[in-house]
Amino acid sequence: MCLASLAFIMVACSPAQPEPSPTAMPFSPVQLPRATPKPVTPVPTVTPGGNLTVRYGQDIQPILDANCVRCHGGVAGLWLIDYEQTMMGSINGPVVVPGVPEASPLYTYVRDQLMPPDAPPLDEEAVERIRRWIEEGAHKN
Ligand code: HEC
Repeated sequence: MCLASLAFIMVACSPAQPEPSPTAMPFSPVQLPRATPKPVTPVPTVTPGGNLTVRYGQDIQPILDANCVRCHGGVAGLWLIDYEQTMMGSINGPVVVPGVPEASPLYTYVRDQLMPPDAPPLDEEAVERIRRWIEEGAHKN
C-alpha cells in the first residue's frame, strides 16, 4: 500500500516531456553580402617612362581568371571577373588603390602569399605584373 502511493506520487510529479519545437530554424546557407558599389576612379598616372607597360586585359585579367575567379567569381565576397568588379572591391572596401600598390590588397595578398589560399603562390613575374599595373594607375587598358 505504501509502495503503491509512492509510485503514484512519482508518476504524478515527473516533469512533462518537452515537445519537439516546431519553430526550429531550417538550415540557411551563409550568404556573403555583395560589395557595395563604390567604384574607384583610376587616376591618370604619368609613369616615369611615360608609357603604360602592363595592360589589364591581356596581362592582369588572365592571372585572375586562372588563379582567383574560381572563388572570386561569386563565392568569396570579392569578384575579380572583370575590370569593373575588380575595381569595385569587397565589403571591406576597394582592393585596388590606383597608383599605390602597397595599399592595394589585390597586390599585397598575392605578394604575402595569402592568396590563393588553396594553391601554390603566384610566380614572381605575375605578382610584379599586378604591382606594376596598379603603380601605373590601374587603368582599364
Ligand atoms: C580557394 C578560394 C580562393 C581563391 C582561389 C582565391 N581567394 Fe582570395 N579570398 C578567398 C576568401 C574566402 C576570402 C575572404 C576571407 C579573407 O579575407 O581571407 C578572400 C579574400 C581575398 C582578398 C581580400 C578581400 C577583402 O575583403 O579585402 C583579396 C584581395 C583576395 N582574396 C585576392 C585574391 C586573389 C588576387 C586571388 C588569386 C591570385 C585569390 N584571392 C584567390 C578565397 C579565395
